[in-house]
Amino acid sequence: VQRLRVRTKAQTDEYEIKIGRNVLCTVGEEARRWLGKEARKIAVISNPRVLGHYGSPAIRSLRANGFAVSQKLIGDGERFKSFRTVEDILAFLSQGRLERSDAILALGGGVIGDLAGFAAAIYLRGISFVYVPTTLLAQIDSSVGGKTGVNLVTGKNLAGAFHQPAGVVTDVETLRTLDSREVVAGCCESVKQGAVGSRRLFNQTVRFLRALDSSRDALESSQLEELIAAQCAFKASIVSKDQREARERRDHQSRRILNFGHTTGHAIEAITRYRLFRHGEAVGVGMLVAGELSKNLGLLSVPELESLTDGVRLCGPLPRTDNLNQDAILTSILHDKKSVAGSIQWVLLERIGRARIVSGKEIAPRLLKHSLRDALRKASTLRN
Ligand SMILES: NC(=O)c1ccc[n+]([C@@H]2O[C@H](COP(=O)([O-])OP(=O)(O)OC[C@H]3O[C@@H](n4cnc5c(N)ncnc54)[C@H](O)[C@@H]3O)[C@@H](O)[C@H]2O)c1
Repeated sequence: VQRLRVRTKAQTDEYEIKIGRNVLCTVGEEARRWLGKEARKIAVISNPRVLGHYGSPAIRSLRANGFAVSQKLIGDGERFKSFRTVEDILAFLSQGRLERSDAILALGGGVIGDLAGFAAAIYLRGISFVYVPTTLLAQIDSSVGGKTGVNLVTGKNLAGAFHQPAGVVTDVETLRTLDSREVVAGCCESVKQGAVGSRRLFNQTVRFLRALDSSRDALESSQLEELIAAQCAFKASIVSKDQREARERRDHQSRRILNFGHTTGHAIEAITRYRLFRHGEAVGVGMLVAGELSKNLGLLSVPELESLTDGVRLCGPLPRTDNLNQDAILTSILHDKKSVAGSIQWVLLERIGRARIVSGKEIAPRLLKHSLRDALRKASTLRN
């Protein structure tokens, strides 16, 4: 079992992430420790699939530690990450008469975490929430940093709040029931964090991916717990220095570097109407584009680009990219919501472990076009 403490500048208190195997059944005692004696009620927010797999041990453990437990199920899928669902959750909490000292337990992937965390941030102007992330993406990414929120019809994650959990219990055993595409998507996100984090984190990630590539049994090795802990520690180190992603920051440690692969990734998701790519898969392709662009700008060497490409390849098969409309991707990139004063902020690489933020204004349209074309071609041949 690994225990990690996450601190953010804005918050003087820290929270703990407990990472291990079969630790789900300890969530009650941990929640009691984190929430204190006054907490009486806990509302478990989950979806039918995750609750079916993991609800019983979690709820049993909460009850054994004196909590009165209620359950609120949300539909499964990104489309439920909406204000409407949050309103439903708030009504549920209110009808159950949860008080300021009570709490929410989010049991699920990033969708449940973002929704339940947001409901916790605004119910009675803020109650505690404990998070049990059950996807690889949620375990290495959304469980750190305190971003919560919902999608608007105009785009993803456009409304929300920063609200840190009281604590996180990450049971790696839950990953065994994950669909293989969800594993691929989570692996892409871990390559992303390694690529902008450090050579050491990147190498550790690639070692795990190699093991996973030869057998899914790698999900049962202690290597996985160590990797998740290292990934969370990296994200925590970035977030603690720049919780709110300061607009003026463009250095290699600003929170913005976590958007590596996202500029093209978001565009690919948007032009395929969020139907063909999981977010992490689109980020996988987006990293290849950012890598190609970095090489073409003379920032990244060819061997370093090959390492990055190998990391993405090891994540597993990605959806087809050779039939994507490249002009539509380019147009969508220009509308990236992360633009600052109208110009896109590309997260590029100088080498593995060192990001550089480059304004879109500094990149010639032709170079971008060629880089996109070459990277999409490369992506489509990765698994052949
Ligand atoms: N807050 C943050 O910092 C942050 C960071 C990254 C992503 N996100 C958000 O996270 C969301 C994506 O999260 P996700 O990839 O976890 O998707 P998700 O929550 O939709 O989960 C993916 C699928 O896996 C299922 N599932 C979850 N756990 C399972 C398990 N253990 N076994 C079997 N099935 C399981 C879910 O029911 C769902 O169908 C996006 O909305 C994204 O915006 C937030």
